[in-house]
Amino acid sequence: MEISQDHKIRKKEGYWSNLVEGETGIYKAEAIDELISQHFPDHCDAVLDVGCGTSVIAQTLRKRLGASRMVFMDYDPAVIEEMRKRVNDPTVEWKVGDIFNIGAWEDRFDLILLLDMIHEVYSFYGRPVRDVNVEIDHVRGQQAVYDALFQVARLVKLGGGIIITDNALSPERVPLRIRLRNAKVIKAVSKFLDEYPSRRIAVRWHADDEFSIDSHDFCILLTQYNKIKAGNMDRWNVEKCEIHQYMTIAEYNNLFGHLGFTLYSLVGTPEGASEEWNEDFKVIAGLSAIPEKRISLLAVKHR
Ligand SMILES: C[S@@+](CC[C@H](N)C(=O)[O-])C[C@H]1O[C@@H](n2cnc3c(N)ncnc32)[C@H](O)[C@@H]1O
Repeated sequence: MEISQDHKIRKKEGYWSNLVEGETGIYKAEAIDELISQHFPDHCDAVLDVGCGTSVIAQTLRKRLGASRMVFMDYDPAVIEEMRKRVNDPTVEWKVGDIFNIGAWEDRFDLILLLDMIHEVYSFYGRPVRDVNVEIDHVRGQQAVYDALFQVARLVKLGGGIIITDNALSPERVPLRIRLRNAKVIKAVSKFLDEYPSRRIAVRWHADDEFSIDSHDFCILLTQYNKIKAGNMDRWNVEKCEIHQYMTIAEYNNLFGHLGFTLYSLVGTPEGASEEWNEDFKVIAGLSAIPEKRISLLAVKHR
């Protein structure tokens, strides 16, 4: 069985409702709305959502922009079937396919959405072998992201855009000293460090509740530990196969500059996540605060 197939099967219902209806889903929709209002025309013709999952943000955007064409695509046929029933709109087109196959399409779109899906490209194409117990290779993963975005960029009309939402790597890569503020988080973090197969994260413990960690690794830990803390093992079993952070804003800027796009970005942390993190962690040294969680990007094609 391919790892991606194994991963699709792990995603149970709770995973999808969490993803779309939870705080992150609302935060994401608001951030996209802001980017579109400020940097995109108020009308366009064709919208493509790649790795659509069960999110209907694209359908809302399509209505707002008055687009005559809407294409939803995912490489998971079960997801597409479920969405086709739910959206129930004969004007929508449905495609089962991998992001790496769209380079051959002749279609052109005004807006392409990649919402919380690029980290799966990084995670599954970034492994040297098809085994989720093997660590993700960062260089290989980033190369897969570049290759995928290169293909997507070809499909965007001049003046059109790509929207990406995902989790962010902190702009700085520095050693941090972190204090864990309660027993629950100490237990969750210890389990995370013991069991996370996607990257072996090295920390140096100074006391039972204090350690040093690289700031990029801390960003990864922040996205993962709370599934264990909440006892949400279905979600942990999915997420532990992934890394949600693969690029800094500077790296996105660089990449989209090469591709001929102007990048607009929003960086922030949903309120609930921020509260939880501040209850659980204190940054003792290295940065003045816990790094921000989310990036929302709009890249507009200028050449
Ligand atoms: C984390 S979910 C995000 C779903 C949705 N876009 C959202 O924001 O809620 C990632 C989705 O991307 C799809 N996906 C992952 N890798 C893909 C690939 N290489 N090609 C097409 N779809 C992919 C998965 O099947 C899944 O539905």
